[in-house]
Amino acid sequence: MYKAFFGLKENPFNLSPDPAFLYRSAQHEEALANLIYGVQSRKGFIVLTGEVGTGKTTMLECLRDFLTAQQVVFAYLFNSRLTVEQFFEMIAYDLDLRCNRESKTEVLFALNHMLLQRANQGRGSVLIVDEAHNLDWNVLEEIRLLGNLENRRGKLLQIVLAGQPELDRKLDAPEFRQLKQRIALRCTLQPLQEHETVEYITTRLARAGMLEQTVFPPELLAEVHYRTQGIPRLINAVCDNLLLTAFAMESKSATMEMLDEVTADMRLEWPGKRPYRSHTGYSGEPLKERPYYSRGD
Ligand SMILES: Nc1ncnc2c1ncn2[C@@H]1O[C@H](COP(=O)(O)OP(=O)(O)OP(=O)(O)O)[C@@H](O)[C@H]1O
Ligand SMILES: [Mg+2]
Repeated sequence: MYKAFFGLKENPFNLSPDPAFLYRSAQHEEALANLIYGVQSRKGFIVLTGEVGTGKTTMLECLRDFLTAQQVVFAYLFNSRLTVEQFFEMIAYDLDLRCNRESKTEVLFALNHMLLQRANQGRGSVLIVDEAHNLDWNVLEEIRLLGNLENRRGKLLQIVLAGQPELDRKLDAPEFRQLKQRIALRCTLQPLQEHETVEYITTRLARAGMLEQTVFPPELLAEVHYRTQGIPRLINAVCDNLLLTAFAMESKSATMEMLDEVTADMRLEWPGKRPYRSHTGYSGEPLKERPYYSRGD
């Protein structure tokens, strides 16, 4: 809607996990390097955790691109609320296994056969499960068993589990001691720091066609960081709404008043929430800690 007004080729703050808009913060870079290293070196289990909206699915999308380019076969399960039967059916579909996909025994047989064949050709296979914190215990147990498949050169199936911090807690349960021991690599995504939020916003704008951004003045960027607590999804939602509001008011730059309106509309919460903050030059009482922010999704 506002693209032409701001001279943009694309929407800079889409909510989809599009690798084309990737901002390579040090931790995102490290997480991706870990995922790729873990898969390439046949490490077995790799776990990626992070709070809601910090970029886990975006990392998995980047990993998918890498695997596709390397011609590595993978199954990608993004709906983790599955029964054991549905889990095997989904794997069979994704890996195009020729068998009765409704029979767990047949799927396991065909999967084992395919994995061995690929391993003999020196090629890997990967299972990626997003939203893994939602996995049913029985499905998690099946995944653990799939992680046992190996030949003398290493694991036949590399397994990447990504999810919210509950996943770590789930894997800490006594019944998953064995699985936990096999996790070769763990990576965690934290919210962005202030300088990263600024780079994140400018990177996305540049990718969308605005090479030198002048829409968001520095003090506004600092406030966007504070109110979103550095969570990329919230940053996207706030910036998108700011651009829309500025456009509606025929203004080429966003203001603190627009931010107040946008965050109020979004019902965004942040620590010590109040209309203005003193460090941005606005008056107000001292900050009170209120460690809660809305998900915004
Ligand atoms: N490093 C990044 N570079 C560019 N965009 C990012 C980055 N990290 C996150 N985003 C953006 O933030 C939004 C949320 O990212 P994503 O969906 O990957 O988060 P998530 O951790 O999977 O969230 P959830 O816990 O809800 O599944 C998306 O719009 C995505 O494009
Ligand atoms: Mg996700």
